[in-house]
Amino acid sequence: LGPLTFLGLESSCDDTAAAVVRADGTVLASVVAGQTALHAPFGGVVPEIAARAHAEKLDTCVEEALAEAGLRLSDLDGIAVTSGPGLIGGVMSGVMCARGLAAGTGLPLVGVNHLAGHALTPRLTDGLAFPYLMLLVSGGHCQFLLVRGPDSFSRLGGTIDDAPGEAFDKAAKLLGLPQPGGPSVEAEAAKGNPKAFRFPRPLLDRPGCDLSFSGLKTALLRARDTEIAGHGGLYRQTRADLCAGFQQAIADVLAEKTRRALAVYLDTAPEQPALAVAGGVAANTAIRTALERLCAAQGVRFTAPPLRLCTDNAAMIAWAGIERFRLGIATEADLIARPRWPL
Ligand code: KG4
Ligand code: ZN
Repeated sequence: LGPLTFLGLESSCDDTAAAVVRADGTVLASVVAGQTALHAPFGGVVPEIAARAHAEKLDTCVEEALAEAGLRLSDLDGIAVTSGPGLIGGVMSGVMCARGLAAGTGLPLVGVNHLAGHALTPRLTDGLAFPYLMLLVSGGHCQFLLVRGPDSFSRLGGTIDDAPGEAFDKAAKLLGLPQPGGPSVEAEAAKGNPKAFRFPRPLLDRPGCDLSFSGLKTALLRARDTEIAGHGGLYRQTRADLCAGFQQAIADVLAEKTRRALAVYLDTAPEQPALAVAGGVAANTAIRTALERLCAAQGVRFTAPPLRLCTDNAAMIAWAGIERFRLGIATEADLIARPRWPL
C-alpha cells in the first residue's frame, strides 16, 4: 500500500483542471485548460460560457491527468473537487463530474474550498508546518489567512474592493497595455520613475490588515487624463512613470499590511514562523522583493510556490483533499456546490 493518491478537479472560475497528487507531495499530473480565448471578446469571464466549457472539458482533463500519471481510476484512493466558492455553474459541473466518478468507482469524495486549496499549497510545495501566514494575491483574491490546520483558517484581513491583480489589469487597460495587466505594467514600470507621480497609499492610516485598491485605479485615471489634456497625448516615458508609481503604491501597501499581519501571527509564537504568498500577483518582482525583505528582517521564512501551483490548478485541490481526508473529513455522496463559502 503506497501513499494516498487523489484525483483533484477544479472548475470554479475560468480554468478547467484535473490533477493526480500523492500524499508524499508528488504531483503525478496537473492538467489545466484555460478559457481565456473564449471570454476575451467579452472583456471578462461570462459565467454561462464558463459553465458550458467546464462541462465539456472536465472529462478530457481527467483522462489526460490519469494518462499523464500512468494510473487508472481504480488505482486512486479518493477524489477531491472544488465545491465552492466560485461561479456556481462551473462549480456544479465539477461537483457533478466528481460525484459521477465517485459513484462509479466507490471512491471517497471530498469537497474542497477553493481558497483552502490555495492556502494549503505551501505544504505541498515546501512542507510548511502549521501555523503559517498566507497572503493570497491574485486577480480575484486578496487576503491574509492564518493557516492553523487543514480545516482551520483565520482571516486577518483582506481587500474591501478590488484585488491587486484586478487593479493591475484595469491599469493596463487604462494605459493601453496588453492583458493580463500585471506582467505588462511590471515591464513598463521597469523603465519608469516611481516617484514621478504621487499615488495614494489607501487604508494605511487605518489600523488592521484590510486593503483597498480601487482608489489607486481612480488616481491613475485622473493622472492619465491630466497628462493627456496637458500634452495632447501620453508620452512613453510618462506611461512608464505612471506604471512605476502605481506598482510601487501596491507594493508599499501590501508590505505595510503584511507587516501588521505578521505581528498578529508572530504573537501566536509559531515554532517555525513562515509567510507564504500565492496567486498570480506573487510573480511581481517589486512586490516579492518587498515581502522578502520584510520577512528577512523579522526572521520569518518566506516561500512562494511555483507559479503553476500558485495560480488556479487542480493539484492544490487534490492535495487539500488528501489533507482533509487524513482528518477524517470524507464525504459526501450528497456533496453540493456552494457559490459562497467563507473559510
Ligand atoms: O492567480 P491568477 O492566475 O488568477 C486568479 O486571479 O485566480 O492571477 C492572475 C492575476 C492577473 O490579474 C494578473 O494581472 C496578475 O495575476 N499578475 C501579475 C503579474 N503576473 C500576473 N500582477 C502583477 N505583476 C505580475 N508580474
Ligand atoms: Zn484561485
